[in-house]
Amino acid sequence: MRRVIAVMNAKGGVGKSTVTLMLGEFLAEMGRSVLLIDADPQSSISLMVMTPDRWQASVMAHATISDLLSCRTNRKPSEFDRYIATGVSNIDVQGRLNLLPGSIDLSDIEHYVDRRYGSNILKATTELAAYCRQAFEFTLVDCQPSVTYLTKLWLQLADYHLVPCRCDFPSFNGIEIVDKVIQRMIRAPGFSGKMSRRLGVLLNMKSRRGGGDGTQYENEWEDKIRDVSGGECFEGIIHANRVYAQLNNLFEEDEWDRDAPSNPTTFNAKYPAEQRREVQAVVDEFLAALDKKERRTSRHSVGSRNRRD
Ligand SMILES: Nc1ncnc2c1ncn2[C@@H]1O[C@H](COP(=O)(O)OP(=O)(O)O)[C@@H](O)[C@H]1O
Ligand SMILES: [Mg+2]
Repeated sequence: MRRVIAVMNAKGGVGKSTVTLMLGEFLAEMGRSVLLIDADPQSSISLMVMTPDRWQASVMAHATISDLLSCRTNRKPSEFDRYIATGVSNIDVQGRLNLLPGSIDLSDIEHYVDRRYGSNILKATTELAAYCRQAFEFTLVDCQPSVTYLTKLWLQLADYHLVPCRCDFPSFNGIEIVDKVIQRMIRAPGFSGKMSRRLGVLLNMKSRRGGGDGTQYENEWEDKIRDVSGGECFEGIIHANRVYAQLNNLFEEDEWDRDAPSNPTTFNAKYPAEQRREVQAVVDEFLAALDKKERRTSRHSVGSRNRRD
């Protein structure tokens, strides 16, 4: 089963890009083919995996998400390949982790939505989602926090959405906004009937102050988030840790040098044992949640077929 998963929270800074990259690198390490789509004009995930030079080369070659979405539609699947930067992770020796690079121009695309290119963007994104299902086992879409036309499109076109969240009030609000937007889209006249399903809420960046598990404030918000998620919050938590902060090398100039000794070049060096166990537990839960949802769907569809028979 091939899946497209939108990673979204209306709150910025909750770890959407970090979690998307982590999941991607772990799934690739487990032998799965993965595409990361940078659907945020801030392009953070592109700059987490590409050097600035490589990213700039994609921009100059018109091989970014905004080039793909703003050009013509009715592409053959093979025509999508030129936009995909392959083998982007320096720890993924098999080259299973791929990226559709982001672009700051993406923020300008919204401007055309209600004009004559609007239906083109819808069609191009729909075709892109179909290509992803054909070419990759997992497509992880790193969405921007603002609820834009494109974000809503991904929430609709993806099979599932995953909501990273900090244990605090603003991220809790961010989950509610995603829910509200989805409900509004479902109730809107002319709704197509297609909407991604919630895969789960993933708690990120919980502290281990004084060796314990979170502050009182974080524990209170964790309880509220688990309550409101109705059993769809992952048990596993990604704690705040420098290892994860280093996945985002945006502000650490020396990290750009791929040959610098500080830059890990193997999976085990990048994710030391404790963090590896923590993320692996979340990835296992992520895969189990997908299986569970899909088993339920196939039971329902067999049920409805039988009823029709
Ligand atoms: N578990 C974590 N531990 C430590 N730092 C983290 C963790 N997750 C994310 N960060 C850091 O927090 C900041 C925001 O994360 P990011 O993934 O860019 O969030 P978003 O995509 O939601 O805006 C980044 O500097 C990132 O390195
Ligand atoms: Mg981000």
